[in-house]
Amino acid sequence: MNEHWENCLLQSWGIKTQLTKLAGEFDLNFKAETADGCRFLLKVMRAGCDVGLVEMQCQALQHIHASSQLVNVPSVIPSTAERNFETLVDEAGKVRLVWVLSFLEGVDYAGFTPKSPHLISQLGTSIANLHLALEGFQHKSLQRDFKWNLTQAAWINDSLTFITDPQRRELLRSVMMDYQDQLDIIRALPLFATHNDINDYNLLVSASLNEEPKISGIVDFGDMCSSPRICDLAIAGAYIVLDHTQPEQALSSLVAAYHAVLPLDGDEIDLIYPLLRSRLAVSVVNSTIEALDKPDDPYVIISQGPAWRFLESSSIVHSLVTARLRVACGLPVTKSAARVGRYLSQEVRGNCAAIIGMALDKAPCHSLSVEGCSVPQNPFELTSLEALTLGDATAAASDISLGYYNEPRLIYTNNAFRLNPWKASNRRTVHLGVDVFAPTGTKICAPLDGVIKVIENRLEPLDYGGMVIIKHMTPHGDRFYSLYGHLDPAVCQSLHQGQKLKAGEVFAVLGTPQQNGGWAPHLHLQLAMGIEGLGADWPGVADPDERDFWNALCPNPAALLNLPDEKIGYVSLNESVILQQRQNDFGANLKLSYSKPVMLLRGWRHYLFDQWGRPYLDAYNNVPHIGHANPRLQARISEQLKRLNTNTRYLHPAQSALASKLTSKMPEQLSVCFFVNSGSEANELALRLARAVTGGKHMVTLDHGYHGNTTGAIDISAYKFNAPGGVGKPDWVWLMDIPDVYGGKFRQPETDCAHLYSQQVDDAINGITQVGGKLAGFIAETFPSVGGQVIPPKGYLQSVYRKIRAAGGLCIADEVQTGLGRLGEYYFAFQQQEVLPDIVVLGKPIGNGHPIGVVVTTRAIADSFAEGPEFFSTFGGSTLSCVVAKEVLDIVDDEALQANALLVGKQALEGLTMLKEKHEVIGDVRGMGLFIGVDFVTHQSHRKPATDVATYVVNRLRDYRIFAGLEGPNNNVLKIRPPLTIEADDVVILLETLDLILSETAITRLTQNINT
Ligand SMILES: Cc1ncc(COP(=O)(O)O)c(C=O)c1O
Repeated sequence: MNEHWENCLLQSWGIKTQLTKLAGEFDLNFKAETADGCRFLLKVMRAGCDVGLVEMQCQALQHIHASSQLVNVPSVIPSTAERNFETLVDEAGKVRLVWVLSFLEGVDYAGFTPKSPHLISQLGTSIANLHLALEGFQHKSLQRDFKWNLTQAAWINDSLTFITDPQRRELLRSVMMDYQDQLDIIRALPLFATHNDINDYNLLVSASLNEEPKISGIVDFGDMCSSPRICDLAIAGAYIVLDHTQPEQALSSLVAAYHAVLPLDGDEIDLIYPLLRSRLAVSVVNSTIEALDKPDDPYVIISQGPAWRFLESSSIVHSLVTARLRVACGLPVTKSAARVGRYLSQEVRGNCAAIIGMALDKAPCHSLSVEGCSVPQNPFELTSLEALTLGDATAAASDISLGYYNEPRLIYTNNAFRLNPWKASNRRTVHLGVDVFAPTGTKICAPLDGVIKVIENRLEPLDYGGMVIIKHMTPHGDRFYSLYGHLDPAVCQSLHQGQKLKAGEVFAVLGTPQQNGGWAPHLHLQLAMGIEGLGADWPGVADPDERDFWNALCPNPAALLNLPDEKIGYVSLNESVILQQRQNDFGANLKLSYSKPVMLLRGWRHYLFDQWGRPYLDAYNNVPHIGHANPRLQARISEQLKRLNTNTRYLHPAQSALASKLTSKMPEQLSVCFFVNSGSEANELALRLARAVTGGKHMVTLDHGYHGNTTGAIDISAYKFNAPGGVGKPDWVWLMDIPDVYGGKFRQPETDCAHLYSQQVDDAINGITQVGGKLAGFIAETFPSVGGQVIPPKGYLQSVYRKIRAAGGLCIADEVQTGLGRLGEYYFAFQQQEVLPDIVVLGKPIGNGHPIGVVVTTRAIADSFAEGPEFFSTFGGSTLSCVVAKEVLDIVDDEALQANALLVGKQALEGLTMLKEKHEVIGDVRGMGLFIGVDFVTHQSHRKPATDVATYVVNRLRDYRIFAGLEGPNNNVLKIRPPLTIEADDVVILLETLDLILSETAITRLTQNINT
């Protein structure tokens, strides 16, 4: 068959190509490729196809090209006879209409991941641009009566009998009733030429590692017809929402982006959801009917799955979707919201009855925000004592105090607030009401006339206890609602639904903590512009990513308290101002992580929180060795600061307590400590010790190593002196290659890597002799970290140390990254290499964020150094630093964190190794305990570093709220180096997320391209 159409193409279009058949239900579609790589789409229409339909499509595509550059659709390639299509005969002798289009590159939207809000917004923009480009296009074939014309969807009413499941039939009936309700409005809308089938197989997406994905084409105009534009948008929406993890948000992104180009009014927006559901109803009815003709094709039924799942989903509330779409487009959340807002501001504020019987303008406000308070200490578990004492900060000054509206808080710690099951998943944090802290028994009055709508007693801990919702009416007849939580549950007996209340009438009293969910006595007051869809189940706090919508539906209730909005509206930190200040205050080489920086305000164990309370899994930071905000350490620090913090010139037991603890973890020869302030200072001191003892100056070290930011430390840090703008290698420093047996100069399994890498010491020592220098020693991160999380081959350091010592040098182990139990099996990395360093350098994790560095050495070396001038570091070894470091080491032991590193690290390494089996871009998984590297390559077969893959992965991890880093000379090694508190569940999420990311189209396309 291909040959026949290849000949036709050559004869009628003069193009010599090779054809590949593509999918197509009724017509034949071929990819046609010339020898020099030009691609076309050959379309052979079914026998008997209406000429008008082909003509319409060709003219529409030409019209679009002539009127807009902003939307990508195929071009019609005319035949040599200058016709848009030809009438040719197939091998069976049947007449076929044949036409040729340019071939658009891209991946089907259906198979593309991730379907991000950004990509969906792009689609909204593209559809609007398509509509603009099609403006004025006319063709008689657009006036089609056919099943896919959404203004004619009512045909399915007569076919609902094909749906055998009675519940599903009823569901479709209700969808069609909603549709029918809107039909007059739909039919009154102006008609345009529309694509009418923007489904996920008719959209192409460009996939790239380095750029945001783009809609690279809209294809298949075969269902074009004349219809209201909103139908076209709703059809696209019907496919966007299917199996999307956040369908409402996805639809909002689509509609808002469309609206930004071609503004919609509120009535049109209100049509989108009913139209979308009717399109899905048409689709499932149609395929059910088709299945009757294809009883052996299970795919016809399977393909209905996503549509049924969406239609049957109970979590999507129609009125809320529509309200969301309105807000996403910048319109009032309900038809009456703007009027109600004006009424509240202009007529209610200042004139309503005092809810607790007194003016609140002088009441102090106190912050429960992520930034403004430290409650709860554990952001995953508010204690009952913390809940009970929430208002205490201001209670001393006043009986009455207020808590802010729109304030992000970490106090909502129940599972019910989490949006996903795992601990650090997004959760609802933003307070949608105002708190009025007042004594139990305080009388609560209705601020305005109203009717009781809901009365409940919510018994769960940390819920509302007694709760009342009142319906109000503006003089213009618009409804709005107010909610009162944490009441004495006696309201359940004293009030009844439908009861009228007068402004100022007392209807409840504040409950006790036993009655109000366990909280300090207070009123939660919340306002809502509409409760259709919400019922009694108003969320009192919202997901920060949904704030715009919830703020519109439940605005600041200040007017009901006769207060200005500003008094009780939370003012968030302005991240762009803080960024600007940082740029003004600091040098440009003070780097921030991520192109869109993240601002973090709270930490807990291996989690971090931004100002809106969004949690992040910290798989990156090793400084908080025992976890962020460790409460035992907090208490110890605060206790010590109350007593004394001075220097090492005075006797204090804390100094020796730390030294003894530390040396108890070392081989007995390493028995003398020096306390300094940082890893850099510790390395400086190590250099001085080596030079003092040997009288030499020259140092041998590893390429791409890092030892700190001071002058001497930079001199031995190739990672810095060889970086762009670096000062270059000093003549007294001699570099050896990183002993990376995967991607380095000598690789396993081919060679004896330990021998070959360690032999490089000989060259260095010869070099020193040749320049007449003297060796001081060798310094290396025992496992190179910035060098790419490298584990040197066994025997490597033994050989290096032997050679260095034979040449009269000392051996320094920089254990800043690897020490103190991180490796699980070993407390220090030098133990794994079975060597005994002369000097060990420790830093960062030992203070868990408090500045302290330590040098540990032998008595002989310390004595030799003591022959020089006095050693003193003002803050090094301060009482507080010693207390902190000792406590950190104790906590590592007491909380069995080294054992945890072993266990969880093993789980991570095994999981990553399994991912390596699945994903070609993972070249190597290496590490020990919680010191882990994942080496990304373009393909496992050739170990070529894939920096852009690694960059993509680390940025996508951040999108999923997981922090990790990049290392290695090619920046292609994912560094996983979390606090030692990380748990098995976190590793599961990390692995699942990595698997998802590595399955994303930008990456899978890369490996496919290499394979083909
Ligand atoms: C291996 C190593 N040594 C030394 C240092 C320097 O420590 P500090 O930043 O505390 O001066 C670092 C810091 O990252 C390091 O990773």
